[in-house]
Amino acid sequence: MKQDVRIGLIGTGFMGRSHAMAYHAVPFIFPAAARPVPELVADVSEEAARAAAEATGFRRATGDWRELVRDPAVDVVDITTPNSLHKEMALAAIAAGKHVYCEKPLALTATDALEMTQAAEAAGVKTLVGFNFLKNPAAGMIKRIIDDGGLGDIVHFRGAFDQDALADPSAPFSWRFERAVAGAGALGDLGAHIISLAQYLIGDIDEVSGQINTRITERPVAGGAAGYGDKAAPDAPMRAVENEDEAQFIMRFASGATGTIETSRIATGRKLWLSYEITGTAGAVFFTQERMNEIKLYRADDPAGQQGFRTILTGPAHPHYANYFPIPGMGLGYNDQKVIEAHELIEAIAGDGPLYPDFRAGWKTCRVVDAVLRSAEERRWVRVGEV
Ligand SMILES: NC(=O)c1ccc[n+]([C@@H]2O[C@H](COP(=O)([O-])OP(=O)(O)OC[C@H]3O[C@@H](n4cnc5c(N)ncnc54)[C@H](O)[C@@H]3O)[C@@H](O)[C@H]2O)c1
Repeated sequence: MKQDVRIGLIGTGFMGRSHAMAYHAVPFIFPAAARPVPELVADVSEEAARAAAEATGFRRATGDWRELVRDPAVDVVDITTPNSLHKEMALAAIAAGKHVYCEKPLALTATDALEMTQAAEAAGVKTLVGFNFLKNPAAGMIKRIIDDGGLGDIVHFRGAFDQDALADPSAPFSWRFERAVAGAGALGDLGAHIISLAQYLIGDIDEVSGQINTRITERPVAGGAAGYGDKAAPDAPMRAVENEDEAQFIMRFASGATGTIETSRIATGRKLWLSYEITGTAGAVFFTQERMNEIKLYRADDPAGQQGFRTILTGPAHPHYANYFPIPGMGLGYNDQKVIEAHELIEAIAGDGPLYPDFRAGWKTCRVVDAVLRSAEERRWVRVGEV
């Protein structure tokens, strides 16, 4: 039996619950591996934290995240709070010698993300950013196909992350629309995910040219509303939206490949259109998270008359899938990606192995976001190294 790794979870909202669920599932899905122990949970009040601890099986609760960071029984600090809190919490955790698992985007700016990266590297702690879509067995398989040369030389990456979760103008104002708390809008929230996939699959992005747009410029303020799925009263006061609803950019990778990324939080009809098509000299691949258990693969050397995109259902031959099922086509869901992510975190800490995407990878994603924002503001191509 490998060592147990004790978790301190900060935040118990949308993502906090998903992480808590993952910790419980890890020993079932990866029984031979190191186990996470849900030790201590923190939220804004003692009461909220205690309720969450009872619901999620954490042993102890606190209303003060600093207490959690200092706690000697916590090995890894898991940060699932709004974006503006990531930096302060991560730096405190690193200073206390803890490993850090942080939700995306890593920070409000690339400058902050670099400071966090350098602090973690200097302290020698493990870090992981919650870009869970990289953990889908389909994404792992696509990476293998590319790395094995199955698509030939990569020519182009066409990516998108579109959702309509906030397309309704009466969806209330939340922290996601506030620059000081969220940073960028759709680009930092959704775009960061597809940027992280582009970097994972193709490599570093060197240069971007983009535009951003805020279509719904004010939203109703509803007391206590957390955002998704909430409704404001018709007579609610309005508050100005401070970041973009949508962004589009073209880019050049260090490898010489070209690409485009579009992202929108108001894309009517799209629920989880995290999608990408990668074109190579010997083949192509298409994936969308709305069909997250399917890979569409095209091989240029298929016989004439039989060429076309074939559908491959994920199965035991794909990374991590066999831990779930011995049969292809059973299908994983969103939370399973978090289970794989949590497993990789715990294994890397217990076995002192590598972890990806770490803070350095998270910083590179923030750099692309900042470069697109600068490009949009100054209406020119921006080298990512400039920011
Ligand atoms: N990886 C993904 O797919 C994904 C999906 C959604 C959100 N996220 C990221 O997760 C993070 C949280 O988003 P969310 O949707 O869960 O938000 P949320 O608003 O649902 O939850 C935030 C939680 O943090 C708590 N919190 C706020 N301030 C705190 C403080 N000072 N001390 C302790 N707890 C505090 C809140 O009470 C709440 O429990 C964000 O960075 C977001 O970008 C990632």
